[in-house]
Amino acid sequence: MEQIVINGGRPLVGTVEVSGSKNAALPILFATILTSDICTIENVPEISDVSLTLEILREMGAKVKEIDKNTFEIDTREAQSGRSSYELVRQMRASTYIMGVELGRFGNAKVGWPGGCNFGLRPIDQHIKAFEALGASYENANGFISITSDKLIGSSIYFDTVSVGATVNAIMASVLAEGTTVIENAAKEPHIVDLANFLNTCGASVRGAGTDVIKVNGCKKLHGCSYAIIPDMIEAGTYMIAAAATKGKLKIENVIPKHLESITAKLCEMQVDVEEDDDFVIVSYGGKLVNVNVKTQPYPGFPTDMHPQMSALMCLAQGTGRITEGVFENRFRYVEEFARMGASIEVAGETAIIEGGKPLNSAPVRAVDLRAGAAMIIAGLSANGKTVIYDIESIERGYDNIVSKLKALGADIEKIEV
Ligand code: UD1
Repeated sequence: MEQIVINGGRPLVGTVEVSGSKNAALPILFATILTSDICTIENVPEISDVSLTLEILREMGAKVKEIDKNTFEIDTREAQSGRSSYELVRQMRASTYIMGVELGRFGNAKVGWPGGCNFGLRPIDQHIKAFEALGASYENANGFISITSDKLIGSSIYFDTVSVGATVNAIMASVLAEGTTVIENAAKEPHIVDLANFLNTCGASVRGAGTDVIKVNGCKKLHGCSYAIIPDMIEAGTYMIAAAATKGKLKIENVIPKHLESITAKLCEMQVDVEEDDDFVIVSYGGKLVNVNVKTQPYPGFPTDMHPQMSALMCLAQGTGRITEGVFENRFRYVEEFARMGASIEVAGETAIIEGGKPLNSAPVRAVDLRAGAAMIIAGLSANGKTVIYDIESIERGYDNIVSKLKALGADIEKIEV
């Protein structure tokens, strides 16, 4: 069992480079199946969700060659549907993408029920709605989802809720369908745009990604390509908050500042100094932190994946702040862990009310999910004394070498084997 041990109270200072986006890398790695060809994917983050995705691709019959730790050549010519094991699929939410790529390429899919972080119910009704609109039928039996079709025909899909996963799957299932598919009320996240750019580089016609109407003109075949993943906006945002929480100053490189706008705006409102340039931001503590109200929303709103990290900073800011969760029904499991560190947080419905302004105490805490784990690291870095974080596997699902990156910025942090 591994733990992270932090001796907190030191400001983070220096330069950190942001890795490739987890939420772009996972759909793009799965989408290589649609090409029946060889793709080279660059700027892939070194995280366990990527290792798991590559292992699932191998189970599906793809040949995966590591060119270097962030570049993979993937040959999907021999891939087949229905081969991914429940043991792997159940570990990750992005396994839902196996449905879209198998249906898109083979006309049928068979996948175990996907896992992932526990934020309450995570239904897939909108994914199924998209597949059915394209002419497929769906069956859920014995823990497996089966989707079959004689022929996929382009159609009109209107989502009842804005879903990243359902938008990705609708695009992936329709790129090789006959005719045009129009996806309305689509998610607008930068990783949707990155997936569309990848598919277009492979010869697809996906237009409008980044807006809420996406048009896919089906084509007969895609070809392989070389493609570099965009930087991870959530990793960048996590370092931005860590800089402010530790009263430090960080230059955060390899970012797209436009993707960080909602985070930058809230930090400025809290009186944190943020300077932007073409591909970096400099974030520094400006002498005080003032509390704010935040509501998480689909992009371009404040990201739900920054919710726990933002709460950590709000515990340190003067006054009362409120953070309202607008995407997932249960993202507040981190609150109990913060209470161990002396935080004063009350949850009422979808809102956490945070009485800030007191330093956090070091304590033993758990990483209850990926982003909650990042929040525990931020809290531990800010608190005087020794914080031990248990159940850290979830942090490694989405943060590339976080311990060594933080060490290079002056943190006293170790990963230990117990
Ligand atoms: C993706 C991200 C995750 C992020 C989330 C929201 C990946 C691998 N994961 O998750 O990090 O937190 O977007 O930005 O990219 N919903 C339905 N029916 C559906 C699908 C979703 O009701 O069929 C609801 C969900 O319960 C949730 C909301 O829609 O309340 C948004 O979920 P969604 O955008 O689908 O999240 P994921 O794609 O699972």
